[in-house]
Amino acid sequence: MAVMRLDKMLSDCGIGSRREIKEYIKRGSVKVDEKTINKSDVKINTDKNSVFVDGKKIIYKKFTYIVMNKPAGVISATEDKKEQTVVDILPDKYKKIGLFPVGRLDKDTVGLLILTNDGKFAHNTLSPKKHIWKKYFATILGFIDQNDVDAFFKGIDLGNGEICKSAKLEICNTENGKTNVFIEISEGKFHQIKRMFSSVGKEVLFLKRVKFGGFKLDENIKEGEVRELTEEEFESIFESTLK
Ligand code: URA
Repeated sequence: MAVMRLDKMLSDCGIGSRREIKEYIKRGSVKVDEKTINKSDVKINTDKNSVFVDGKKIIYKKFTYIVMNKPAGVISATEDKKEQTVVDILPDKYKKIGLFPVGRLDKDTVGLLILTNDGKFAHNTLSPKKHIWKKYFATILGFIDQNDVDAFFKGIDLGNGEICKSAKLEICNTENGKTNVFIEISEGKFHQIKRMFSSVGKEVLFLKRVKFGGFKLDENIKEGEVRELTEEEFESIFESTLK
C-alpha cells in the first residue's frame, strides 16, 4: 500500500512537473475516483483510489524500466554539457521521472540499454557477484581464430594488472578482411571488449549489445527508440544467473 500526495503520484507517473500538475488540477482535469480534485496536496492510496487525468486512468508504478536500442553518437549518462545523452533522446513522458542508464555503452556502441529509476535494480544487475552475462555482436578488423577463442575463454590480460574473467567468443563469418563475432562477458570493465581485442592485437570496428542476462534485444525497436519492459522480459534478465 502506498499513501502519497496526489501531485507526487502524478509526477512519478511522468504526467508532468509539479507545476504542470498544479495547472491540471486547477483546470479540473484530475479526478480521484468520481471526485474532481482542486488541491495538489490531497493524499491518495495507490492501491485503493483510481486517479484520472482528462478521463484517462493513471496506473501508479513505483519504478519504470525501459529498453532502448541505443544509437551511436549519444553517451550513456543522464546529462552532459557538450554531448547528447541517452536521457536527452527519451520521449518527453520519460524525461522527468529520474531515469538513468543501467551501466554504460560507449558513445559509438549501439544496442540494448536498460534505463530505470530503480537504484537497487541497477546495483543488483551491475554487481559482479550477480554474474549477469552481456552478449555483444562485434565486427573485428582482420581474422579471428581458435587461438583467440581459447585466449578469451582463459581470461584476457588487459596488460595493466587487470585480468578479465572467462569470456565466450563465437566466430560467425569473415568477409572482406573483417570478422563478425558474438562475445559474451560477465563483467563491465571500462571499454572492456575493445580492450580485450586490443590485447590480442585486434580492432573493434562495430559493437552492438544484443542480450542482457536472459533478455534479448527486440529487433523491432529501431535505433533511438524505447519501450517499457514487459514483466516476462524483466524476469528474463535474471534467468541466465539462475542456472
Ligand atoms: N565493451 C566496450 O568496449 N564498449 C562497450 O560499449 C561495451 C563493452
